Amino acid sequence: NYLNLIFKMDKIIQNTIKFVKEKLEGAEAGHDWFHIERVWKLSRKIAETEPCNLEIVELSALLHDIADPKFHDGDETLALKISREFLEMQNVSEETIQQVLFIIQNISFKNRVKAPKNQPIELKIVQDADRLDAIGAIGIGRTFNFGGFKNNLMYHPDIHPKLNMTKEEYKKSDGTTINHFHEKLLLLKDLMNTQEGKKIAEERHQFMLTFLDQFLKEWNVE
Ligand code: ADP
Ligand code: NI
Repeated sequence: NYLNLIFKMDKIIQNTIKFVKEKLEGAEAGHDWFHIERVWKLSRKIAETEPCNLEIVELSALLHDIADPKFHDGDETLALKISREFLEMQNVSEETIQQVLFIIQNISFKNRVKAPKNQPIELKIVQDADRLDAIGAIGIGRTFNFGGFKNNLMYHPDIHPKLNMTKEEYKKSDGTTINHFHEKLLLLKDLMNTQEGKKIAEERHQFMLTFLDQFLKEWNVE
């Protein structure tokens, strides 16, 4: 009955894809179905290198941004509610549902301090995949798209972006897209959980450094 199980799982994944695509129609381009698809593929790639429960990995990757609090008035419970409702309809076991919801709840960069120390490998995998999609060329594209979506400045010349800014400096530079690199994107490489994630992050990180150098060079008309 192993084959039967695989068949049932495949059906659930297909239903989840359909559900997520519909739900994310019209979403901001950095948090749309294609972001989910990339994170799903990256998750499977990393999962090949770690012993894990693939069902949990795939469902979590597909559902992780189903209702991002950023786009829902800061509501952190909506994604959990929507996901539970959907998974229950698919007759997914309560144990699996709880594991998937745990990942959705703890994947975010913002919540990283709150996250418990001994994380399940499935969370580590999907978190790495989500973070990999935030860096490199795609990460640059997503970040500028988000900044445009929010009508933020690309950059402010008063402040040269750097790590360890003073509070004053930080306040002024907050909200620029270039600042987001220093606030978050450049930190992600060292936050990778898995060996495979670290490996993929290296090239993407270097590409961002090259981009930032060139950006400032052109900004200053050097
Ligand atoms: P998480 O869900 O892990 O806390 P976010 O959803 O805040 O991460 O960020 C996902 C992506 O959205 C970022 O990698 C970036 O591309 C974009 N983004 C989020 N906040 C900003 C911002 N203030 N400026 C530019 N891009 C942003
Ligand atoms: Ni995401």
